[in-house]
Amino acid sequence: MEPVILNHPLVDNKLAILRSKKTGTKEFRELVSEISMFLCYEALKDAKTREVEIETPICFSKANKINEDDYAFIPILRAGTGMLDGLIQVLPNAKIGHIGLYRNEETLKPVRYYYKVPKDIDKKQVVVLDPMLATGGSAIDAITMLKEEGAKDIKFLCIIAAPEGMKKLQEAHPDVKIFASALDEKLNEKGYIVPGLGDAGDRIFGTK
Ligand code: PRP
Ligand code: URA
Repeated sequence: MEPVILNHPLVDNKLAILRSKKTGTKEFRELVSEISMFLCYEALKDAKTREVEIETPICFSKANKINEDDYAFIPILRAGTGMLDGLIQVLPNAKIGHIGLYRNEETLKPVRYYYKVPKDIDKKQVVVLDPMLATGGSAIDAITMLKEEGAKDIKFLCIIAAPEGMKKLQEAHPDVKIFASALDEKLNEKGYIVPGLGDAGDRIFGTK
């Protein structure tokens, strides 16, 4: 499945500020949330709607609504929670799960520490959130866990992807559609995305 890279001037404009090391915690958080709304807008373009009857001040009419309960947003802790605000603004009644993973800084392999997802995950449209797709290890592991639980319909949303992680994720989970706001050049020797934005979790939470 071909990934979708937003490549949109409005998003690029926000990314330029997000990437800058001069951007502080408050603005960084707001931008992550705003870019996530754009990603959600693109990723849910194929959302199913049902026709409902409404009454406008002018007349009775038909309108289209999404069954928000059908959606499960799954941020990968910690940085993925920074994207959640944006998605909840779009679909406030979606269900939310959490998968706790961190990268071992030496091996770069993901280490699991938390897993809690909505019931009936096998019947939900699952949207996994993580701002950074670097080696791909965290995304692959999180999606594997969700599939073990029965999830079938999965999308992955990230702010920045590295070509290495994109390729690995596509190979491991070819059925999962990836949406990224930017595809960067490469990973450096420490597994950081170049040019990237640094450590997303630290910048969202102000921990360094
Ligand atoms: C970051 C990021 C991803 C992961 C991506 O998390 O939020 O989860 O690295 O790297 P990968 O594609 O090589 O697996 P980190 O491990 O720094 O944890 P944090 O979110 O708790 O800061
Ligand atoms: N995780 C991050 O937060 N940033 C990177 O560049 C790579 C992994």
